[in-house]
Amino acid sequence: MTAEGPRTTLLYDDWYPAMRSAALRRGTLATATLLEIPLVLGRRRDGRLFALRDSCPHRGIPLSYGWFDGQHVTCRYHGWEFEPCSGQCALIPSLTSHDRLDATRIYATAFACEERDGHAWVYVPSPGSGRRSEAAERKPVPEVPKFGPKYRTAHLTADLPCNVDHGIIGLMDPAHGPFVHQAWWWRSRASIHEKSKRFEPIPEGFRMSAHAPSRNSAPYKLLGVYGQPVETTIDFVLPNRRTETIRCGEKWFASLTTVTPVTGSTCRIDVVAAWNVFYHVPLVTPIARFFGARFVRQDQETMIQQAEGLKHSPTLMLIDDADKPAKWYLALKQARLDAAATGAAAKHPMDGPVELRWRS
Ligand code: FES
Ligand SMILES: [Fe+2]
Repeated sequence: MTAEGPRTTLLYDDWYPAMRSAALRRGTLATATLLEIPLVLGRRRDGRLFALRDSCPHRGIPLSYGWFDGQHVTCRYHGWEFEPCSGQCALIPSLTSHDRLDATRIYATAFACEERDGHAWVYVPSPGSGRRSEAAERKPVPEVPKFGPKYRTAHLTADLPCNVDHGIIGLMDPAHGPFVHQAWWWRSRASIHEKSKRFEPIPEGFRMSAHAPSRNSAPYKLLGVYGQPVETTIDFVLPNRRTETIRCGEKWFASLTTVTPVTGSTCRIDVVAAWNVFYHVPLVTPIARFFGARFVRQDQETMIQQAEGLKHSPTLMLIDDADKPAKWYLALKQARLDAAATGAAAKHPMDGPVELRWRS
């Protein structure tokens, strides 16, 4: 991708998906970048995932060039060995019996890393906040909601050449649907009609309250075959998470979509969906994947085009009511940045529930 838009500020002290965990096979190392931090990830022999800064604390060579035996990561330059979950140095091969240096007091930078829904989630502390922040344990690892033990899942991912703010705003923007996602199976432009949706504040985010979903969208019509009322809820929560749940009696579909900053000017969208709808019908998973992939690709292609324009730093605007969720996101983000700077509690931009109206 060539065109890159302007940079934005990043939100630290939270969990971000680094990569698909299925790619982390025992004994191999993989690299990823999160919030401009180069990472090396792997899976220990006991199955536990780890994420280290991809830089040897000795002389800075990426640890990903080294070796991993399922237990220790060995730097390829001077052979220092590290326990990868803690980052603790276990061996410095060049030390002699005359050396006083205690290798175990040296650490490579290790990040909290947990596996959920097929992703390796990494807790990214503020720069300079030291080794393995305890805060990681206080915030739960994000997860797609599930309403029973039997379900199927699918994953989608796409790189976006714009900063995380544009990625997130694109995610919550209700007015682009009929234009970007124009297709017979989704909705047609002719079906645009006025909608009103209720939103309410939730901690560090907002919820589009449960309601009967758009009557002009085909996937929802499909759900209707169960003949019970369909209820959906869409939550957005900082730093980057949109959770959608659709429930119809015993049947449910849920998805967690995140837009994660790779650098200050690029991001990646990851979708994980789980459902028990049509559980026994063959081919539903590949079909869902196909349509989901097409949907995400339409967003991605539009954002690649948008990035072309954003390169020139144009003045932009957000309008009421269709762009109101985007305004709330920017205000929530600013409130969190202000709170981190002053130590005061973050102020929520919404006073209470509101009704928004738009045509889509
Ligand atoms: S640079 Fe890694 S051991 Fe020296
Ligand atoms: Fe979209």
